[in-house]
Formats: sequence, structure tokens, C-alpha cells
Amino acid sequence: MAEKLLEIRKMTVGFVTDKGLVKATDQISIAVDKGQTVCLVGESGSGKSVTSLAIMRLIEYAGGIVVEGNIKFNGQDLAAAKQEEMRKIRGDRIAMIFQDPMSALNPVFTVGEQIAESLRLHQNKSPQEAMKMAIELLKLVGIPAPEIRVKQYPHELSGGMCQRIVIAIALACNPELLIADEPTTALDVTVQAQILDLLRKLQAELGMSILLITHDMGVAAEMADRIAVMYAGAIVEEGSVEEIFDHPSHPYTVGLLQSIPGFEGERGGELHTIRGSIPPIGQLPTGCRFNPRCPHAMDICRSQEPPSFMVADDHPAACWLFQDKPVQADDKDEVRQA
Ligand SMILES: Nc1ncnc2c1ncn2[C@@H]1O[C@H](COP(=O)(O)OP(=O)(O)OP(=O)(O)O)[C@@H](O)[C@H]1O
Ligand SMILES: [Mg+2]
Repeated sequence: MAEKLLEIRKMTVGFVTDKGLVKATDQISIAVDKGQTVCLVGESGSGKSVTSLAIMRLIEYAGGIVVEGNIKFNGQDLAAAKQEEMRKIRGDRIAMIFQDPMSALNPVFTVGEQIAESLRLHQNKSPQEAMKMAIELLKLVGIPAPEIRVKQYPHELSGGMCQRIVIAIALACNPELLIADEPTTALDVTVQAQILDLLRKLQAELGMSILLITHDMGVAAEMADRIAVMYAGAIVEEGSVEEIFDHPSHPYTVGLLQSIPGFEGERGGELHTIRGSIPPIGQLPTGCRFNPRCPHAMDICRSQEPPSFMVADDHPAACWLFQDKPVQADDKDEVRQA
């Protein structure tokens, strides 16, 4: 059996507001095996970035808290780790590419200095050694003339080059897990394809695991081994990339797939968007969180939140359409209590 590197179990992340604690994620479970790429997909506002910041325990700096659940990384529960321990793990064993890569680079330092800084901090390298390694890393991420580029400032490089630099910084310490939050959204389509190719190549070479966050099912199709579909703070469906694309079950997943150009869905490949919009946190409807937007909503959907039903092996979907299927083992306790 594949070895688990990251195992998030029933994690709830909340923000304290004047109306009390509001949940941005609701008991979510996600697992990433060693060497695997898991894509977390969902519309804007579904809680993807909150999830990644919680894994890194950076959510506290954004005013959030991990209210319940575990974040096991190689067996260690990060949800219970001290910030001092987290500082050692961040950028060393777990690296993150943030949603806005341009702002991740510091305009007043050369790219070489910024890569070398990470190496000095985590690996105790001398300035000379670190600069040499920075040049090697620029080569690794496919930057031509690295000896020249290493001395340049971010504003002297294109958006695609800057993104390669951000990846080089993330890889500087050879992380076991790379969390990439929409790493290609700001880039044009050709550069986007190059960066995705680069990530795939680096993963094969370095053997790291990747948690890739994207709102784009097309990107997930190219990159993922497994896909977790997030809606309004919950994982509503999860499965291998083949299962999700060949047998999408939750109506939300079906809607996301139908919004990919060229996808042959129920509506014969016609491009459409999911009607309505995602509710803001703290304002979930009663019953299934997707029911006001769902074309299949039934009475039970408006009154009772569905557990996850096993629509196939290793493929749960939280939707009452599948109530004849067995409930996911993890969810049984809650159903009994309900
Ligand atoms: N610091 C914060 N305080 C209060 N609410 C927040 C905070 N950060 C995020 N939220 C809320 O949590 C929800 C999830 O936000 P998140 O940024 O995780 O979405 P996302 O899935 O990453 O969206 P996008 O695709 O736009 O990046 C949103 O409703 C957002 O308004
Ligand atoms: Mg985000």
C-alpha cells in the first residue's frame, strides 16, 4: 500500500468575527501519498487557500484557527505543533507556492540572493555555496543563462521567469511536500503549460508529493493522481482522476466538468456555468450546502446534510442521489448521531 505523507482528518478552520466563529472549512479530510499529486479544486471562495494556509499553520497569521481535526505529516500532527516547530518544517520539509507569485518575490533583492537566503536559513550553507546552488536551481527550473539571471532583480524578468524563480525558491530545500496554490493562474496559456510541465518533470526527478490547488478542472486533468472537489468549505467528492472524469457523481463536480471547453458532459459538450453563486462563509443553506444551485435537489437535500456515500471503491460523494450506496466509514458515526 502507498505510504501516506499528508493526512488531514476532519479539519475545521474558522475565523472569529463579530457574529462569532464562522467555519471556512468543515471537517475536511484529504490524503496525499508519497510521490503523488492531489488536486484540490473548487470555485473561488470554496476554502482552498484557507486549507493550504492551515496545513502550513500560517492561517493563524490571517486571523484564523484550526478548530478541530488533525493534519498528520509523516505521522506528526501539525495541528498540534508549536509555531517554533512549524518554522523548521515550513520552507524545508513543506514548501509553498503562494497564489500571487509576483508578490512572493522581494523587489529589492536579486533572485540569486532570494534563493540563497532560503538555503542559508534552512541548510546552513555559506554565502558562496548558497549562490552556487542557486545557479544550479535556476538550471533545474529551466532558466537560460542562469549565471546572468542570478544577479538580476525580479522586475528584469518576465512573469513566467518569475514563476520559475518562485518554484526554485520552493525547491531549494528539497521539500517532501510542495503545496502550489494556483501556480499558473496569473500566466498566459503557453507559459502555464510550460510551468505545469516543469512541475511534472521536477516531481518525477525529485520524488516529492504535490498538493495542487486550482479552480481549473483542465489543469487537474493534466496533473492529478487524485482529485478532491471542494464546495463552500467541504470536500463534496473525492477520487482518482479517472474516476472523477469518467464517473463524476456530485452534481457540483458535473457542473465544474461541464464548464471545461470541449468536455463531453451530459449536455453534449455545451459549455455552461453553474447557476447561482457560492454562499459566503457563515451563511450556508440548511441541508446540503449545494442544494440552492443543484439541478437535482430533492426534499431531503433542503433539510438534511448528506454524509459521503461510496459511489465506487475509494470514491466518496456527499450527495443524497447516492443514498442507496454505503456510507463512507468515516461518516458513519455522524449519521448514527443525526
Ligand atoms: N482572513 C479571513 N477572514 C475572514 N474570512 C476569510 C479570511 N480569509 C478567507 N476568508 C473567507 O474564507 C472563504 C474561503 O476563502 P479562500 O481564500 O480559501 O477561497 P479559495 O477557494 O482559495 O478562493 P480563490 O479561488 O478565489 O482563491 C471565503 O469566503 C473567504 O471570504
Ligand atoms: Mg485561493
